[in-house]
Amino acid sequence: MNILIIGNGGREYSIGLKLKKEKIVNKMYFAPGNGATINLGENIEINDYEKLAKFAVDNNVDLTIVGPEMPLGKGIVDIFKKHNLIIFGPSKDAARLETSKSYMKDFLQKYGIKTAKYLSSSNYDEISKFIDKMDGKIVVKADGLCAGKGVIIANNKDEAKKAAKEMLDGKSFGDAGEKVVVEEFLDGFELSFFAICDGKNFVSLPVAQDHKKLLDKDEGPNTGGMGAYAPTPLATKELISKIENEVVKPTLSGMQKEGSSFCGVLFVGIMVVDNKPYVLEFNVRFGDPECEVIMPLIDGNLSEILYEAAVGRLKPISLKNQFAVGVVVASQNYPYKSSPEKLIKIEEIPENSHICYAGVSSKNRELYADGGRVLVCVGKGDTIKQATKNAYELCKKVKFDGMQYRSDIAYQVNK
Ligand code: AMP
Ligand code: GLY
Repeated sequence: MNILIIGNGGREYSIGLKLKKEKIVNKMYFAPGNGATINLGENIEINDYEKLAKFAVDNNVDLTIVGPEMPLGKGIVDIFKKHNLIIFGPSKDAARLETSKSYMKDFLQKYGIKTAKYLSSSNYDEISKFIDKMDGKIVVKADGLCAGKGVIIANNKDEAKKAAKEMLDGKSFGDAGEKVVVEEFLDGFELSFFAICDGKNFVSLPVAQDHKKLLDKDEGPNTGGMGAYAPTPLATKELISKIENEVVKPTLSGMQKEGSSFCGVLFVGIMVVDNKPYVLEFNVRFGDPECEVIMPLIDGNLSEILYEAAVGRLKPISLKNQFAVGVVVASQNYPYKSSPEKLIKIEEIPENSHICYAGVSSKNRELYADGGRVLVCVGKGDTIKQATKNAYELCKKVKFDGMQYRSDIAYQVNK
């Protein structure tokens, strides 16, 4: 199989690293890829999706896998399908589960799936009246894609109104804030739940937890994610079956009824309150850094699993009875501003660990940190403790100026 992977992060590198070990995989292309994916395959500099589809046809690409949400939201799947290509990911219409929070909330309400009480509107007076009826903390979200930054947790009504007004005026998130979702604050613990879907059926992947804050003890600003681990014992069998039956199944059948069957990765951001799963958000792709810890837990050929899902005949998936922990190593000024390029030195890679490269460039066979999240140190083990230890042993072998990482990834279960 020749495979094209869309994206340039640690997520796409981890998919490539898994596929590289599969005998059935022949050539791999990354568009655009990063400074380290050139060691797994070939980087392609084509931004236009029609041209990329032509490249895939001309180069006998058998399967395209889309990493990030942006190309999905812009309809890359629809374009590739028009050219009779096999592509794993949702159509532009189905991607609205992620690209529009008001679409997602209305969908959840229509199909009776638990989520925080909300109002979505572009009218400030309506929003202000709704906020007046709320108590405690209030969550204000921009409707469109904001790279994980469009959510404000307001401590009181005045803060909530101010946040909503700034979003509607286009001050905080531009066009993404033309419409606003205001919702009740849910107090519980979060899970990242992933299902591979073929339009009708799904298979669940190990349940992960992400660490969105920059600093230890979940302090500091929000980031794209500073680390993850899987599977989490916080997701009990009972909870997993509730998520499958009360969230994933009605979502897939609801999307079919809406005429937008969902094929691809359904990533449900769950808040568990009193042992009940509430949907915080949908994403229509793998999480980053969750993907980096899920890939090493998949037994069997990912290429076949994703190919079969893309053509609507999903197969079961077998998983390793192991744990994986991923620690994101970021550059000095992340997440505030970019940092100067720095040479990366890796002393050695200890056993049961590996690196997934993200914000890196390559010059004269050396890797340089040139992005916010630079790489992810992944440790594996028979227990979470062991996997955590292996991930942090690897962190100690990585050196570049200004590097920063959290020291408490998987703290939720390493007490
Ligand atoms: P979202 O992009 O909607 O997942 O929101 C980003 C983060 O904001 C989530 O991962 C939660 O930590 C937090 N969050 C979002 N909505 C709520 C809510 N209704 N109650 C509590 N926390 C929330
Ligand atoms: N790690 C969360 C995300 O990928 O959106």
